[in-house]
Amino acid sequence: MTNLAEVPLEKQHTSVSSKFDVEEIRADFPILNLKIEGKPLVYLDSAASSQMPQTVIDRLVHYQTAQHANINRAVYYLSEVATNEYQNARCTLQQFINAKENKEIIFTSGTTDAINLVMHGYGRSFIQADDEIILTTLEHHSNIVPWQMLAKEKSAKIRVVPINDAGELDIDAYQNLFNERTKFASLIHVSNALGTINPIKDMIAYAHQHGVPVLVDGAQAAPHLTIDVQDLDCDFYAFSAHKLCGPTGVGILYGKAKILESMQPFKGGGDMISSVTFEETTYADIPHKFEAGTPPIAAAIGFGAAIDYLTSIGIERIATYEADLLDYATMCLNEIPGVNIIGTAAKKTAVLSFTIDGIHPHDIGTILNQDGIAIRTGHHCAQPVMQRFNVPATSRASFAFYNKKTEIDALVASIITVQKVFL
Ligand code: ALA
Repeated sequence: MTNLAEVPLEKQHTSVSSKFDVEEIRADFPILNLKIEGKPLVYLDSAASSQMPQTVIDRLVHYQTAQHANINRAVYYLSEVATNEYQNARCTLQQFINAKENKEIIFTSGTTDAINLVMHGYGRSFIQADDEIILTTLEHHSNIVPWQMLAKEKSAKIRVVPINDAGELDIDAYQNLFNERTKFASLIHVSNALGTINPIKDMIAYAHQHGVPVLVDGAQAAPHLTIDVQDLDCDFYAFSAHKLCGPTGVGILYGKAKILESMQPFKGGGDMISSVTFEETTYADIPHKFEAGTPPIAAAIGFGAAIDYLTSIGIERIATYEADLLDYATMCLNEIPGVNIIGTAAKKTAVLSFTIDGIHPHDIGTILNQDGIAIRTGHHCAQPVMQRFNVPATSRASFAFYNKKTEIDALVASIITVQKVFL
């Protein structure tokens, strides 16, 4: 491989001093300069999708302008460059979550795809009639529907961990669900609808005491918490790039090598085989066995650049800054009569779900948009959470490390305008 190191881009974010300077951070994100309805954009929907810094945009442009070719298929220069960069991105992800080997990182199209891979590749082989799969009330639909499909196909059962009024899991109930029929647990690490951080390490340890493998849906955790899969000892861990300042269309499934090797492929096609005849196909080794067809090469490389950017700031510094934002926002919203925060767990990421007495969340979202404020309204693909709190929907402001307190002040002012308009 030659000349690859010519990549003229800074991989590391250099403008951040040890003090967390949010204005310096914001300067990295061109989209934050937008005006919406003539007002500065206040982007409070990072739990749905985070924004992309210039360094990642530049990395994508560089790839497309100087490095693009298909991977693993040819000996010419560009194909070798692209293959190398794609594999480098895999190594970056491996280090980010402290996986033992880079073959334990499978690029998927996102968290949903990763969970479906495990359902098909593991579940369809190892779950039988009357077996039980444990989920929690906090799950996103992407960690419910695939398991329901499997349960229907296999006549297996879904068992669900309840939550309390704060939106925290009932851990005694979780432990009581285990019995000799329990064969799998698929657990959300951080709730997208409420921000609750689950005690996932202890939950995994308990499942393992019963010989039950665990998949962790880390879509909302990886952007805000340090993830160490060896320390967690999870069997699978999944998350998406677009919630970590990377592109859409790519994510990863981490799996312990031994368990991945025991699984059937999810999708068949090129690049996942060792040999093919019309009589029989043998499969490639992991991770390739699970990466059929041309993968999202550019997006995976952009994902690697996004991880480089985040680690150059430091996930712990990000978490500390976001915790301060959450405290401030919680205090401000609690002071507004008629506003009810849904999800008050002791351990939360920077997500604030709320309702306003007498006003539908979609009306709230519409008025906030007129003030340039972007929040998500609806059931957040977590209808069981809405049912638990007996609401059809909530408004959800979710914060990232590029948000600032004056944006929370703008949110508060706009909520007061909403109340004036509708009440
Ligand atoms: N799962 C994403 C959210 O919570 C889309 O908004």
